[in-house]
Amino acid sequence: MTLLPTGAHPVPVDVSLVPELSGLFAPTTAERDIGPLEVVGELPPELDGTYLRNGPNPRFTPIGSYTYPLDGDGMIHAVRIDDGRVSYSNRFVETPALRAEERAGHALWSGLMTMYRPDATEVGAGLAGTRKDLPDINVVRHAGRTLALAEAAPPFALSPELATLGRETFGGALPAGITAHPKIDPRTGELLVFCYGIEAPFLTWSVVGPDGTIRRTPTVVDGVERPTMIHDMAITDRFVVLVVAPYYFDIAAAMSGGSLLTWRPEDGTRIALVPRDGSPTRWLATDAFWCWHLANAFDDGPAPGGAGGAGPGPDGAVVVDYVQWDRPGTDDPADEQHAMLVRARLDLGRGTVVRTPAHDRRVEFPRIDDRVLGRRHDRVATIATRPDDPQLADTLVVTDLAGGHDAHWRAPELALGEPVHLPRPGDPDPGHGWWATLAVDRREDVSWFLVLPADDPAAGPVARVRIPVRVPLGLHGVWLPSNR
Ligand SMILES: [Fe+2]
Repeated sequence: MTLLPTGAHPVPVDVSLVPELSGLFAPTTAERDIGPLEVVGELPPELDGTYLRNGPNPRFTPIGSYTYPLDGDGMIHAVRIDDGRVSYSNRFVETPALRAEERAGHALWSGLMTMYRPDATEVGAGLAGTRKDLPDINVVRHAGRTLALAEAAPPFALSPELATLGRETFGGALPAGITAHPKIDPRTGELLVFCYGIEAPFLTWSVVGPDGTIRRTPTVVDGVERPTMIHDMAITDRFVVLVVAPYYFDIAAAMSGGSLLTWRPEDGTRIALVPRDGSPTRWLATDAFWCWHLANAFDDGPAPGGAGGAGPGPDGAVVVDYVQWDRPGTDDPADEQHAMLVRARLDLGRGTVVRTPAHDRRVEFPRIDDRVLGRRHDRVATIATRPDDPQLADTLVVTDLAGGHDAHWRAPELALGEPVHLPRPGDPDPGHGWWATLAVDRREDVSWFLVLPADDPAAGPVARVRIPVRVPLGLHGVWLPSNR
């Protein structure tokens, strides 16, 4: 954490020294509406809806520091498919802090790793001393609300035209905010969320009903004694699943110029199974690993009879699929650690965690067909990074965890983003439909919305929608069929 002398002002960062501010990541300041777009190939006629994707996109040169992927203003990119016509739009998430910066014509809030907040002379009494909202990580729609999501902070609601409507606190019930990765239970329509805090309580979970009203106000997850960073979650019919790795906030160290976050592998990683009925949390411990993203989890029956007659307990097991890192990731190509897709089986009776890698590819951004979130699933889509650049992914990998094989499609001329599943309307089979991703062309300043058949991803895209501008590489997105 960078400390500034009293009265000092953070200076602009050297963009050339920050990989996530240049090249394919370089932010765009333009807000555009472009269409109709050229389609190479043939869009499936059943596809009708909107793909939304969020990502950090600082409006002005950051001051003090820039920490990807947390810092940066949110920008939502939309690809709309309407009766075969395709268009593209993008808009900033207009937070009060961003509006103040737009009035000033430059950045006023420093990056997270610089200890600085603007005073009233810079931003007025209403915003003086505040933290900047950073709804730049994900976007979801629930109960008619489209939400741009931040890490452990209130999201911002958006109109269908991507106008920012304001901070969403769910009627004041969730003032501290929610995770960037809430989960919608397709069975109940509930939105399940968690939020970690720097101060006690360090971890809570909540439930928003399908009508958008609060069903469970923030409820403490017992057993978390330190402020701990947790990025994602999963759900099953019975549990909220939280991977609690030993990655702690250390405010005392930060206040003296040290690191805000500290990795303590000796503590191991614990997995919290929080019963959705409100009964006490079940904790399972294993060796330390870090996890940015989970693909899914589901309740499973007891394991087949164990060796030595140690039969499974009556509570069965929970299966959790996620991308496993040795430790919190760095973007340093010299960092040899491998991010792997892993299936973990948590036996509640024995209290054991058995982790099995699916393959040896270096992958991230795991997604499934969201219609089976929380229930048994087989296929997980990820993107695999290039050996020469761990920040660029050029391969879509769809892994069948039941069948033990994967299908992949490689496009070395592109940098692929997170995959999303596009269901075929009326067809409940996750193995059908399509996988889509927003890719940046490495040869020229254009981007592509790619649509690949889910039953044969290795065949490559059936349609490539050409977006005649570069959409900066970003983070998470969602497909919203037009009938929702
Ligand atoms: Fe994420």
